[in-house]
Amino acid sequence: MAYPRVASFKTQEAFVSYLKNLGIQLPCDKEIVLGEQSPLAASLTVDDVTIGNRFCILPMEGWDGTRDGKPTDLTRRRWRNFGLSGAKLMWGGEAVAVRNDGRANPNQLMINEANLPEIESLRRELTETHEAEFGSVKDLLVGLQLTHSGRYARPNQKSVSEPRTVQRNPALDARLGIDDETAILTDDELQRLVDDFIQAAILAQKAGFQFVDVKHCHGYLGHELLSGVDRPGRFGGSFENRTRFLRDIVAGVRSAAPGLMIGVRVSIFDFLPFHTGPDQIGIADPRGDRRLAFGSDDSGCGIDLDEPSQFLDLLKQLGIKLVCTTAGSPYYNPHIQRPAYFPPSDGYQPPEDPLVGVARQLQVTAELKRKHADLIFVGSGYSYLQDWLPHVAQALVRSKGVDSVGLGRMVLSYPELPADLFSGRMLSRKKVCRTFSDCTTAPRNGLISGCYPLDRFYKTSPQHDLLKQAKKSGSA
Ligand SMILES: Cc1cc2nc3c(=O)[nH]c(=O)nc-3n(C[C@H](O)[C@H](O)[C@H](O)COP(=O)(O)O)c2cc1C
Ligand code: SF4
Repeated sequence: MAYPRVASFKTQEAFVSYLKNLGIQLPCDKEIVLGEQSPLAASLTVDDVTIGNRFCILPMEGWDGTRDGKPTDLTRRRWRNFGLSGAKLMWGGEAVAVRNDGRANPNQLMINEANLPEIESLRRELTETHEAEFGSVKDLLVGLQLTHSGRYARPNQKSVSEPRTVQRNPALDARLGIDDETAILTDDELQRLVDDFIQAAILAQKAGFQFVDVKHCHGYLGHELLSGVDRPGRFGGSFENRTRFLRDIVAGVRSAAPGLMIGVRVSIFDFLPFHTGPDQIGIADPRGDRRLAFGSDDSGCGIDLDEPSQFLDLLKQLGIKLVCTTAGSPYYNPHIQRPAYFPPSDGYQPPEDPLVGVARQLQVTAELKRKHADLIFVGSGYSYLQDWLPHVAQALVRSKGVDSVGLGRMVLSYPELPADLFSGRMLSRKKVCRTFSDCTTAPRNGLISGCYPLDRFYKTSPQHDLLKQAKKSGSA
C-alpha cells in the first residue's frame, strides 16, 4: 500500500502538509477548542426545533435484529451508545425496512404494527440514556431512517439476493444474476410502496420519532429511482418522474402525520461501479453506464452537480430542511462512500488515497451548502480523518461548510468522542477508528456487525472467532 497511514502524522502541520502534497483543499484547524466554547458545541435550529450541538450520529445497521424485525440486546446496546455519544442529532439510528421484501438482510429492523412497541422502546432507551448522562433531551432530535433495499434486498436468507429494481443496469444486474426484467418493480407496485412508506412514517411518529428520513442513498431503491432515466412510465425518464416517489411519499406523510419532520439522506453524487483490477486495486467496471450514476459527469468518475442541486431545490419546495449527504454505494464503489485503509474482505484496494475520497465528500457538501444556505446539511465520511477529525470538523463548521458533522464508523469504535471533546478531554487515541472495515466484513460473511478490533464487547465475542476464520478462508 503506497499511502501513509493517518496515524503516522504526529502533528497537525505534518497532516496539513501531506494534504497539500496531495493537492487536497480541506480546512483543518490548528487547535481544537475544547469544552463549551467549541464551535462544535454551538446549537442549531430547524424551524422551531433546537439541536444542541454540531455532531450527528449517522445511521448504521448491525444485522442483529430478530427474524421478524424487532431489535435485540445488541441493537439496544448500539442505540444506547448513540445516546451516550453526546451528539444531539440522531440521523435515523439505522435503516429500518418499511416491509419484508425491502429488507437488506433477514435481521434488518422492520417497522409495522406488531413491532411498534419494540421500536418505540428502542428510541426510548437511546433518549433515556442520553438524558441520564447529559441531563436533558430538550435539544436532542431523533429520527428514523425508512428504507426499501431495492436491488440489494435479501429479506429471507442471508445468502440469497431477491432484488427489486427500477430498470436494467448491465454492470449491476450481472453481479446479482439478473438476466431479465422480472426484478423490475411495476408502477403499481411502486405506488403501493409509497403507501407503505407513509404507513411506516405514521408508526414512526407514534413511536416518538421527531422526523423520518426517506432514504435516497447507497444504491437502494430511492437512490436508484433518481437515475431511472431508462424507465418508462410515471416513475422514470424525466427528473419530475424520477422524483415522483419522494414527492408522493412527502405529500402522504404531510397529510397523515402532521407535525412529523422529514429529512432525506441522499447520495449526492455517484460514480460507475468499481471492481477489482490488476494488483487488487479498484477500477471502473467497463460495463458501467455513467447515465445511471446520479450526479456523475460524462466520465462516470467525476461529479456533475446540476441534477443533485435541482434535487435540493425540490426538497426546499417540499418544505424539507434536513439533508444528509453521502455518496455512491458501499456495494459497488465503497471507496467514494466510506474511505478505508483496509477494504472489506470482498472489496478492492483503494484506487486513490482514502483522504481524496474524504475530501471529495466534504468539499461537495460545502459547495452545496454555499448554494443552498437555507438547508441544514449533515456531512458524512469523516471517520477516515481519525485523529484529525475534530480539527477538520471544527474548521468546516466554523467556515459554514457544513452544519452538522456526521459520525459513522467512528461511533462504533469510540462512541463518546463528542462527549469527550465537550467535557474538555483530548481524544482517546486507542479508541479512534482505524478503518479496519471489520464492521463491514462481518455482515458480508453473514455475521453481526460491530467494531471487532476496538470494542471489547465484540473483540471477546464468539463471533470474533468466526470472523477471523471467515477472513482467513477469504470466503467473503
Ligand atoms: C456497519 C455499517 C452500517 C451502515 N449502515 C447504514 C445504514 O443503515 N443506513 C445508511 O444510510 N448508512 C449506513 N452506513 C453508512 C454510514 O452511515 C456512513 O455514511 C459511512 O460509514 C461513512 O461515514 P464514516 O466515514 O463516518 O464511517 C453504514 C456504515 C457502516 C460501516
Ligand atoms: S471495525 Fe472498528 S476500526 Fe474497523 S472500520 Fe469498523 S469501526 Fe472502524
